[in-house]
Amino acid sequence: MNFLTIGHRGVMGVEPENTLRSFVAAQEAGLDAIELDLHLSKDGALVVMHDTDVDRTTDGTGPIAEKTLAELRALDAGLGERVPVFEEVLEAVQAPLQAEIKDVQAARALAEVMNARDLAGRVEVSSFHDEAIAEIKRLVPGVRTALISSLRHSRKNSSGGTPTGTDIVERAVAAGAATVCLNIRRLTLEIVEHARKADLNIIGWVVNTQDHLRLVRAFGLDGATTDHPDIKRTGRFTA
Ligand code: G3P
Ligand code: CA
Repeated sequence: MNFLTIGHRGVMGVEPENTLRSFVAAQEAGLDAIELDLHLSKDGALVVMHDTDVDRTTDGTGPIAEKTLAELRALDAGLGERVPVFEEVLEAVQAPLQAEIKDVQAARALAEVMNARDLAGRVEVSSFHDEAIAEIKRLVPGVRTALISSLRHSRKNSSGGTPTGTDIVERAVAAGAATVCLNIRRLTLEIVEHARKADLNIIGWVVNTQDHLRLVRAFGLDGATTDHPDIKRTGRFTA
């Protein structure tokens, strides 16, 4: 498998995150895939935003789940961009997508779109939540999935202890994920070796510095999620 470069929320280091402008810039930079985050609006639209509320990324306030799509569309998501719905991203770029879902409800809504448009070959689904991975796998035949872990934020392991690399790999295997997305700041050789033994692909996130890129190469990871567009073109960072 070739080394995969994934644009984080588009290229959020240089464009407003999770906007069409950011996704087009990621594609124009030649990144192999584009990562985005999905939430459900009050009226059930799959909107592309990271946080559970609109405060940080728009000029509005309040939870996404309490706003209709029309209300979300009225907001400025940065440089005059509007909050996209998932279907718009599908039209705006042709690149493979990695769609992160935050819960089982989002999994069900995404499954409807994926099945209606036959997207299992184009959209990989990622989540921090095993239940969401299990649900999308149940609903979308052949979908590829990735379990995301930060280790620090992971749930306790089955014995009630602090999660280890082994636990993450076991969870990914149990959920049927082909890939684990691991926080580069907490990456260890132990977890890489466990993941390899389990035949999992490993993506590091978020890879924004030369040191992190060196680590990714040294550990032989399969890819990196990055905020910056120049990794693909130069193989290194200019910042
Ligand atoms: O792919 C991993 C990455 O998307 C997880 O971090 O906070 O951007 O959702 P976050
Ligand atoms: Ca994400």
